[in-house]
Amino acid sequence: MHVSSLRLSHFRNYESLEVGFHPQLNLFLGSNAQGKTNILEALYCLSTTRSFRAAVDEEMVRFGQEEGAIEGHLHREEGQETIRLELRKGKSKALIVNGKKQKKLSSLLGRMPAVVFSPDDLFLVKGGPGLRRRYLDVTILQMDQGYLAHLQQYERTLKQRNSLLRQRAPGTEGQLAVWDLPLARHGAAVMAKRKQVAEHLTDFAGEALRDLTGGAEEFEVRYEPQVAFEPKEEALSQRILDALGKARREEMARGVTVVGPHRDDLGLWVNGQPLRKFGSQGQQRTGALALKLAQLSLLSEGCHTNPLVLFDDVMAELDEKRQAFFLNRLQQGGQAFLTGTSANDFAAASKGARIFRVEAGAVKRVQEGPPCADVQ
Ligand SMILES: Nc1ncnc2c1ncn2[C@@H]1O[C@H](COP(=O)(O)OP(=O)(O)OP(=O)(O)O)[C@@H](O)[C@H]1O
Ligand SMILES: [Mg+2]
Repeated sequence: MHVSSLRLSHFRNYESLEVGFHPQLNLFLGSNAQGKTNILEALYCLSTTRSFRAAVDEEMVRFGQEEGAIEGHLHREEGQETIRLELRKGKSKALIVNGKKQKKLSSLLGRMPAVVFSPDDLFLVKGGPGLRRRYLDVTILQMDQGYLAHLQQYERTLKQRNSLLRQRAPGTEGQLAVWDLPLARHGAAVMAKRKQVAEHLTDFAGEALRDLTGGAEEFEVRYEPQVAFEPKEEALSQRILDALGKARREEMARGVTVVGPHRDDLGLWVNGQPLRKFGSQGQQRTGALALKLAQLSLLSEGCHTNPLVLFDDVMAELDEKRQAFFLNRLQQGGQAFLTGTSANDFAAASKGARIFRVEAGAVKRVQEGPPCADVQ
């Protein structure tokens, strides 16, 4: 599967754009603030219905406009597909597949998986647990349609419960019990899936870090749940309920839910040491890359197709050896989109790629990639 072309209207700094892609390697070159990342963002939206950087969808509608749209033409083994996402200020977005409006945005998840690599990945290692939970959840959501329902129900219940706790009104305690059960049930389902996927990630991340460091570093990605894990889901749910019971006083005093998977973390250990505390800057960066590579491997396996690789400004940060490693990895995989400010950033990549120059919201093809008769 690959994206054969992309159309944008009133998206970010693009008034309108139509661009055809190479099935394998596409490079976007341009100065800062010209619209390179915006293209990757549009592709990511077609994959996951959400941006990897905008907090709200509205941000992506071009300044001064009320609506914008992203449309991708996909080439699949089974045939062509058109995915269109319409963004409207003050309204929810709409998903249209092959001209038919879809009831659920989530029907898109996993159909065209994508992984973004960006310099911000370093925060996966250095930042707070929320970013690691998001990394884990985004991975699972693309592979497992059922996960979204549990995650959403969990988050909804948590919100209700927290607002009740915040009011600190008389009788709160009795009302809390109504929310405990769904919190525990959906919480247990979320935890079970996170545990399962984290274990797979450990294998892939270990392999990736060994490749990146010539075997010098052992990586362990550990699921670190806030409530001690238990493999039987029903018993796990009971364990959450028990923990909620024990934390009742604290929760009433603090006005917030302190038990449950919204406080989970992923522990990252390199050669037996916590990467966040003891890793050098370079080790942390490499660890973050390994995490993303693991996501790529896991999604390839779980979605039965090669994910799109969106490589935003990362090449320049890699030394030659790692650039070569990545190119090799990209060539084995699906379609890739790379951005950079200078052709030197991808000395090694530029030979076999379709190259575009991005300037003030316009994209011009400057070099054709290799013929690819072998590509679907
Ligand atoms: N909603 C919007 N409407 C119009 N322009 C926008 C909107 N959101 C962002 N922009 C503009 O888009 C421009 C290009 O953004 P983008 O992040 O794609 O740049 P870039 O080419 O990746 O630059 P860099 O090399 O610095 O990463 C920015 O100057 C920004 O002001
Ligand atoms: Mg950018």
